[in-house]
This record gives sequence, C-alpha cells and structure tokens, in this order.
Amino acid sequence: MLKTHTCGELRVEDSGKEVVLAGWLNRRRDHGGLIFLDLRDRFGLTQVTINSDEQPAAHAAASDARSEYVLQVKGIVHQRPEGFENPDLATGQIEVLATEVTILTESRTPPFYLSGAKTDDVDEALRLKYRYLDLRRPRLTQNIILRHDVVRYIREYLYDRHFLEIETPILLKSTPEGARDFVVPSRLHAGEFYALPQSPQQMKQLLMVAGMERYFQIARCFRDEDLRADRQPEFTQLDLEMSFVDVDDIRNLIEGLMIDLSGKVSQKQIVQIPFPVISYDEAVDKYGVDRPDIRFGCRLFNITDVVAGSGFAVFSNTAASGGQVKGVIYPGGAEMSRREIDELTDFVKQYGAKGLAWIGVTGTPDADGHLPADGLRSQITKFLTPEEIDAIVARSEAKQGDLILLVADKPSVVAQSLANLRLEIGKRANLIDPNILAFCWVLDFPLVEYNEDEKRWEAVHHPFTSAKDEDWHKLESDPGSVKAKAYDIVLNGWEIGGGSIRIHRSDNQARLFKRIGLAESEIEARFGHIIEAFQYGAPPHGGIALGIERVVALYADATSIRDVMAFPKTAAGTDLMLDAPSPIDERQLVELHIRVRDEDKK
Ligand code: AMO
Ligand code: AMP
Repeated sequence: MLKTHTCGELRVEDSGKEVVLAGWLNRRRDHGGLIFLDLRDRFGLTQVTINSDEQPAAHAAASDARSEYVLQVKGIVHQRPEGFENPDLATGQIEVLATEVTILTESRTPPFYLSGAKTDDVDEALRLKYRYLDLRRPRLTQNIILRHDVVRYIREYLYDRHFLEIETPILLKSTPEGARDFVVPSRLHAGEFYALPQSPQQMKQLLMVAGMERYFQIARCFRDEDLRADRQPEFTQLDLEMSFVDVDDIRNLIEGLMIDLSGKVSQKQIVQIPFPVISYDEAVDKYGVDRPDIRFGCRLFNITDVVAGSGFAVFSNTAASGGQVKGVIYPGGAEMSRREIDELTDFVKQYGAKGLAWIGVTGTPDADGHLPADGLRSQITKFLTPEEIDAIVARSEAKQGDLILLVADKPSVVAQSLANLRLEIGKRANLIDPNILAFCWVLDFPLVEYNEDEKRWEAVHHPFTSAKDEDWHKLESDPGSVKAKAYDIVLNGWEIGGGSIRIHRSDNQARLFKRIGLAESEIEARFGHIIEAFQYGAPPHGGIALGIERVVALYADATSIRDVMAFPKTAAGTDLMLDAPSPIDERQLVELHIRVRDEDKK
C-alpha cells in the first residue's frame, strides 16, 4: 500500500504516529517558510504542514505541487496548536508534519474549481464532459457513496427475507411500460432486433411461474422517453416480485424497507407511520397529481358548483362546458403586490391556464359570517354575489390574510396548473420542512384509461396488472370504472415506485390485451409466451419496482437524479464525455444489415 491511513481518519489520539497519506492536492497555502497542503481522498481532507527549515526537500516538492496533483506524504501526526483547530473537518484537531512529499502524478489545471464556494455554479455541460473530475467534488463523492449504501441495505433487507437475486437479460424483446424501446440490431438475424428492457416485468413474472417465489434484482432499465430532472434514458430499479401475496403484503414489505433504510442513511424524520394511503381519485382532486407532496397542506378545493350560475362569465362558461373551477390558498398572501400576482399568473400560464383569478381576504367576517366588501381585495368580486363570495371563502377555508387563487379550465389544465402552483406556493411561502420524509401510498388507480388521440383504451400501469376482483366483470361493459390492484409509493412529491398484483390466469390476460386493442395475431406475436406460460400453473403473484436514483436523490437533497449517477446523460440523452451517441463505421453497418438514410448521415 502506498498509504497507511486515509485522509479522513486521523484524530488527536494518533498524535506522534508516523503515517503515510496519499491523495489529491485540494488546496495549497504558501506562507513562505511554511506551506499548508490540504490533501484529499474519498474519505476526507487532512492538513499537511511543511516547514522549510526542518524539511527543505519536502518543502521544495510541496512548492512545485499544484491543485489536483497526486501526492504521497510521509510525516508525523501532531495535535494542532490551540486556536488553529478546524471544527468543520473531521480531522480538524490534527495536522501531519511532513518529512517527505512525493509528487506521484502531475495534473493539468482543471477546467473548473473542484473545491471552494464557486463549485456549484459551474455549467453542468462542462461538469458532465469532465465527469471524472466532477465526481472528485465531495458533494458528488458523498452521493455516490450514499447510493452504494442504499443498494447495500436494500440487498441485506431482502436477503434476510429469503429473496433470490436473479439477473435477467438485457437483450430482450419489447416489454411495454409506456415508453419507446431502445433496439439493438441483430447481426446473425438480418432485419431483426432485440429490445432493451424498459423493465424486467415479464421475466420476473416468468420467474414466478418457475417457482422462484421471491425475486429481486437491482435492474438496469432503458426507456426512450422525454427526459426531465427525474428521468434518464437508462436508470436502475429495485425490481421485486413475490408469489402468493396480495396488495398489503407488498406494501408492508416495502414500507418496512423504506423505514429501515431511512433510519440508516438519512437524518430526516418520517412524518407518518404507517404511511398514509390516498386513493388516486382523492390525490388528483386534492393535489392535482397522482404523486402528492404531503409535506404541507394547501389542498385544492372545487367551486365549480358555486359559480356555475355566476355573473363572472369566465367561471360560468367554463362550468357550462364541462370544465372545472378550482383553487388553492396562498397563506398570508392577501396583501401580495400586483407584480407578484402577475408572476403567479405567468407561472400557471406555462401549464395552459388562461388566467389566474384572485381574492385577498383582508378583513374579518361579521357576526353572520359575511365578509364585508371592504374586507376583500379582488378584481372579480364585483362580478359575484355576496352569497357566492361567502361560499368560495368557506370552501377555500381561507383565513384573514390569505390569498385565494382560482383557475377555470378543462379538468386536465386545472389539475396541472394548480398542482404546480401549489408546489410553487409551498416554496415561496416556505411551507416545506426540509428535514422530513413524507411517504404515502396511492391506491385504487383505474386499470385502463381512454387515449383520445389513438381512440383506444390503454393500461394505466402496464397490461399485466390485475383488476380488483369485484371489477373484472365490468372490463368489457364499463372499462373506465374498473379499478386496478395497483399501488404507487410517493416520497415528498416524487413517485419513487410502483407495482401491482398481476393477472395470473391466461383467460383474463387475453381479455385485457383485447381490451387495450391488441388483435389476436398481435397478442400471439408479442405475448404468446406469457399467455402460454400461464397455462402451466401460474401462482398468484405481484411486485413492485423502486427507482433507485429517485430514492437516493431525495435522501441526498439533489434536485436532479443526474447528481446521484456516476455517468448520467444530458437532458438530450447524450453523453458529453464519450460523445455518444455517435455514427458507426460503414463496415459495422453492413454487418448489421442497416443502411443510414442519406439525409441522416453525419
Ligand atoms: P414503473 O414504470 O412505474 O414500473 O417504474 C418504477 C419506478 O422506476 C422509476 N423510473 C425512472 N427513474 C428514472 N428514470 C426513468 N426514466 C424512470 N422511469 C421509471 C420510478 C418509478 O416509480 N415493471 C413496473 C414495476 C412493477 O409493476 O413491478 C415498472 O417498471 O421511480
Ligand atoms: P379578464 O376579464 O380577462 O381581465 O380577467 C379577469 C381576471 O380573471 C384576471 O385576474 C384573469 O387572470 C382571470 N382569469 C381569466 N381567465 C381565467 C381563467 N380561465 N381561470 C381563472 N382566472 C381567469
């Protein structure tokens, strides 16, 4: 070993020891006769002190060292003189008085600062191009270590409960999860393609048919979809499947895992155990989304019935045409400036809203519960009757000092704009406690929903999800009302996982495929294997998958899952370090039986 200790390890008790450290030069402070080096490795930072009178050779080497040089330092551990301790550093009580400094490797000047205050402002494209340098920054190093810990604890938890860790193929056939497939051309079979798994869904179900009973995998998944802060084209799931279980068994297992894991890797407190359960309908009604952030209130309220006959045409026309009028409270916002209200209006317009009506509750209600006209601040109350105003204020549960914000539109626009406005209010009004973990389960999803563009029903989860027992009979007659045995787990407003109890009878599986518009021939070509497998004694089974990056990002307080991945792709799906994707040479194309169109040649 080129080192006896790590740079995060030495303490006062080690005083007097002769040690050898090795790592990167984080920072050098040159005080002439005295040079201080902050030596960094994965484990931390240690201050090395070199005195020119006592160690002239070491001092000369240290003078030549620059940021990110790789150094080896031999020296004696000393307690720092009083007043020179650094309480922010685990090794801040000691320093190493160097007797030898060796430059192991030089470094070019890094393209951006790796330490100090300026590191977080660096352009992300530059950081991704030099990802191996970016990862040296302690925040990212810590994220990668946290990710390792999370995966390790997950494995331990599941090994203890008799789960088998089984790998499934990456070269596969299409597995529908609602995104586009990445495909790989076959050299041996001209004109044919593998698909990379969007998840190991079918393989894990086939493993249940195979009698494995409890399976998990830390599985790579590939989805060609529009990317966002919480979506990457390849990502990792904890993928899990169990036989002879129902919804509650999976929920209990995962709830236990998340409680255990949170206790081990996070200082944050879980707000409610057992995790609260919200139905899909209630989530959409009260939060506008199926992944509610329940760290704060400000739930949405519906006033469509109140304003259906109102003199404010925007509201009454919307109600008459099947739209909704809903709102949310901005606590303490009654006296907000017009400029700030305009900002909120522009904010909701991003989500398709045509406007944002507002009522500031500045006064107190009289003895009868009516708000006097001068107790309100609004542009729209002049179009409303006192009864309508009272009903709106009551429905909103606004208190004196609150601002009522209202959107009228078709339900999808109302939901989207108010869901996002609610989160924006949470941020602006400081309603979110950064130290809590608010888990919840969302249940009672519809099994299928109608896709207006394609004029067909499609599975809300994936087409292997079972309907609730009592709803199967409605699959043909009233598909929209059929509820699924599906569940999502949500943490602080992020969907971290989802799963379901599966269909395990081939007749029901065939019925569902038919319901979502697959022709017999298509069912046979794409899913013949699974329907056939179910004819050989499939156990009742179900499972779930958790997005590892999302879980780690939430524990790490990262705003993007890129920050918890060693080598993520950009929002455009490219790798800036490797410059991928990239053209391949003509010979490879010929072997793969592929011709690139002239207009696409680079
Ligand atoms: P689902 O499609 O809901 O379910 O995915 C499960 C979880 O994986 C994470 N996730 C992603 N993370 C990063 N980037 C992405 N592009 C991405 N897509 C999904 C999310 C999500 O909750 N086979 C089913 C599970 C099952 O039924 O057992 C499935 O894949 O955290
Ligand atoms: P206008 O009559 O267009 O000046 O609008 C009066 C108020 O109603 C303004 O505050 C608008 O932002 C708001 N408003 C307009 N359209 C809508 C809508 N669809 N939903 C909610 N508020 C709206």
